[in-house]
Amino acid sequence: MTDTIPVDDVDLFSDEARIDPYPIYERLREAGPVVRLTRQDLYALTRYADVRAALMDWPTFSSAKGVFVDPGVNASLEGITLCSDPPEHTMLRSVLGRPLRPELSREMAPRIEAAADHIVGELVGRGRFDAATELAEHLPMTVVSDLVGLGEGHRGKMLEWAAAIWDVQGPANERFTAAMPLVEEFLGFAAEEAVPGKIVPDGWADQLYQAADRGELPRDKCPALMLDYVTPSLDTTILATTSAIALFAQHPEQWHRLREDRSLIPHAVNECLRIESPVPQFSRVLTEDHTIDGVALPAGSRVALLYGAANRDPRKYPDPDRFDITRRPSDQLAFGRGEHVCIGMNLARLEMGTLLDRLADVVERFEVVSSRPLLNNGLRGLESLEVIVHRSPAPASS
Ligand code: HEM
Repeated sequence: MTDTIPVDDVDLFSDEARIDPYPIYERLREAGPVVRLTRQDLYALTRYADVRAALMDWPTFSSAKGVFVDPGVNASLEGITLCSDPPEHTMLRSVLGRPLRPELSREMAPRIEAAADHIVGELVGRGRFDAATELAEHLPMTVVSDLVGLGEGHRGKMLEWAAAIWDVQGPANERFTAAMPLVEEFLGFAAEEAVPGKIVPDGWADQLYQAADRGELPRDKCPALMLDYVTPSLDTTILATTSAIALFAQHPEQWHRLREDRSLIPHAVNECLRIESPVPQFSRVLTEDHTIDGVALPAGSRVALLYGAANRDPRKYPDPDRFDITRRPSDQLAFGRGEHVCIGMNLARLEMGTLLDRLADVVERFEVVSSRPLLNNGLRGLESLEVIVHRSPAPASS
């Protein structure tokens, strides 16, 4: 039965595909529910209903053999939270997610609001800035990196390490090879330096060791679990925020709408993530023979879940390439779904929503001067977005 599956030799990790994957996603989505990608020896799911169903069915679509592409990386990262199944996953996630519970994320709000006020005031006052490196990086690089708590001296390094770790989530291409030394440096740092006494007391990293001391997880797991905090907590949100600014610059009428009605902010965040998903894919391995939309796949198949394609599936979202903040796509898949749904999504939403709100107070319109795409194997978005902001006239004094 597998020989009836459409085959495609696209390289989803080529520069062209990273810059503009959407025509490729459309081709794959229309070719069939499952497409065999010969270059990376993967089966791709691109339709919303199939990706969502796979995410909700962890016993069949397992994360325990890794969720990336390269077999070596998948083998070496087995057992971190992202790459595990219940019951181990449940135990790890409960420890990892403790500082990120919704009520604690809400407690972070005043700090995030103060940092947002500061950066928006400064940049909008200047009138022209890089929305990626100066605006979007600010909250993750100040508030979030503080909370992770690797120590002040490692703040800048966190971004470099994280980008490298994302790069090895793809196939063994040039980007992957170039990133490997930094990944090894991080693993060495996590084992030797990111240990109690050298990291911020009571930070998220330190809390992992505290949980180990209470017998809640094996102590030798702690260095690898740092990956679960360091990798996804910064670039994802930075890219999502940058994309949001780019989208509002291209669609001033949507910005106007958001400024008029701030209750649209949570929906705008979802719509930005739907249109430009910063994490385009992860994968799973089938634990048994399984039929997806009439297509039979054998146990052991690696199946890529293309969140970025599913989020633009016209079967789910009419006119899917249209950016519309009144669409209210709360079911978009940019944070995943099910057992592994993003543990940091409340924090990411809070960061993005607060920045948009503060910008809406003072910015009438964004104008893009230039932009540069990020070329990374695991992430998508812009690494630079130079903008000019047109300020709103000061409100008439009453
Ligand atoms: C816009 C920002 C973000 C996006 C788009 C994003 C995306 C994702 C996605 C797609 C997954 C699902 C993985 C899977 O299906 O296998 C995930 C999981 C995860 N995310 Fe995020 N993420 C974001 C922000 C964050 C932040 C701020 C943190 C930490 C503070 C974080 C920590 C994690 C962790 C630890 C997991 C693994 C959860 C598990 O395996 O149970 N993420 N994220």
